[in-house]
Amino acid sequence: MSSMRAQVGIVGAGPAGLLLAHLLRRDGIESVVLENRSRRYVVERVRAGLLEQGTVDLMTDLGLAARLHRKGLVHEGLSLRFSGRSHRIPLTELTGKVVTIYGQNEVMKDLIAARLAAGDDILFEAEAVGLEGIDTTKPSIRFRQGDEEKVLACDFIAGCDGFHGMCRPAIPAGALTFYDREYPFAWVGILSESPPISHELIYVHHARGFALFTMRSPQLSRLYLQCTPDDDIKNWPDARIWEELQLRLGDEGGRLAEGKVTQKAVTPMRSFVAAPMRHGRLFLAGDAAHIVPPTGAKGLNLAAADVRVLARALVEYYRHGREDLLDRYSDICLRRVWKGQRFSWWMTSMLHRFDDQPEFDRQVQLAELDYVTGSRAAMTSLAENYVGLPFEDI
Ligand code: FAD
Ligand code: PHB
Repeated sequence: MSSMRAQVGIVGAGPAGLLLAHLLRRDGIESVVLENRSRRYVVERVRAGLLEQGTVDLMTDLGLAARLHRKGLVHEGLSLRFSGRSHRIPLTELTGKVVTIYGQNEVMKDLIAARLAAGDDILFEAEAVGLEGIDTTKPSIRFRQGDEEKVLACDFIAGCDGFHGMCRPAIPAGALTFYDREYPFAWVGILSESPPISHELIYVHHARGFALFTMRSPQLSRLYLQCTPDDDIKNWPDARIWEELQLRLGDEGGRLAEGKVTQKAVTPMRSFVAAPMRHGRLFLAGDAAHIVPPTGAKGLNLAAADVRVLARALVEYYRHGREDLLDRYSDICLRRVWKGQRFSWWMTSMLHRFDDQPEFDRQVQLAELDYVTGSRAAMTSLAENYVGLPFEDI
């Protein structure tokens, strides 16, 4: 069996794994990234689209944001639409910050191209199948590439392999506590070759269910509709999607341009946290440790915030032999994660239709929307969470 060595072995080339690899490299720490999918699959996977200012700043600091600054769409506000009217939340006026629309697959393209251009490794189609010695100072990752099984020996393992990965399950039963909430709905999401209905995002609360109008470019719309949790995408022919989108937009529906649908999928909704985010020399980051429903646009941004802390802690270890930041990694991350969880759960609860919802609850939802769009204090609270809470000083 052939074997390799790196200071840090990173499982997963998603945003968490690749941002971590770049952060470590900047400070002279070498890592090897293992990714079980192909490069093509990773850059074509359509997922998140909204970057907090802190995530953009992180990419800018790393010198990875030239295309992001050219192609990203900077937003200074968003709209909440309910009871047939749209209400703008002026994010930038309230917080001094902006958010940027830039597809996760574009982020992936930039992170991969920069790493390969620097001559560093991402092993695609290399699946981690076992972790050994995570309780020792010499952990290793067994992985399969083609027909060959190999070993990557390292000082630390970063489990950045997403919700369905193998790192979290590699932690002994009983060492983790799981916090979980499933929602009684999911989203149908499409990409459409048509101009967005508005230059800012519109989140819609409607008796027929939630809808979200977002975008990828001035010619490409990204649209979501609340559907049932086990819905099959086959139940959603294009005509039904357009009809629902128009109905949920109400009297603005007639202005919605319909385009060629180039991608269509059902996204499940759940809130999940595994704590602590560390076991021995294995550190979990991003979706491997926590999942949020996409209503608050926090998934990718939380992943970026985790690896910012992890990189800093590893740099302190290699430069000064300090282990205290590694010890505090999970606590530091979880404070932000739980605030992201709270915000995502709150946005989700306020904006979706719950089947069999008592009329009382629906009136409370509407009162909450009315309050959030009518009170500067409430709007500011939404805005500061949406644009991203400040990073903790570490
Ligand atoms: P991931 O992006 O999941 O990356 C993990 C990587 O690990 C993957 O590339 C995977 O192939 C790899 N991997 C897994 N197992 C192994 C193994 N054994 N060996 C090697 N590699 C492995 N967030 C939003 O904010 N807004 C959205 O609209 C939104 N939509 C989403 C839609 C879908 C369908 C999904 C699944 C997620 C969505 N998210 C959204 C969440 C957001 O995309 C994630 O939070 C973000 O991708 C987290 O990044 P990550 O690097 O932690 O995990
Ligand atoms: C997206 O553009 O895909 C997007 C934006 C905001 C969200 C969710 C998804 O809350």
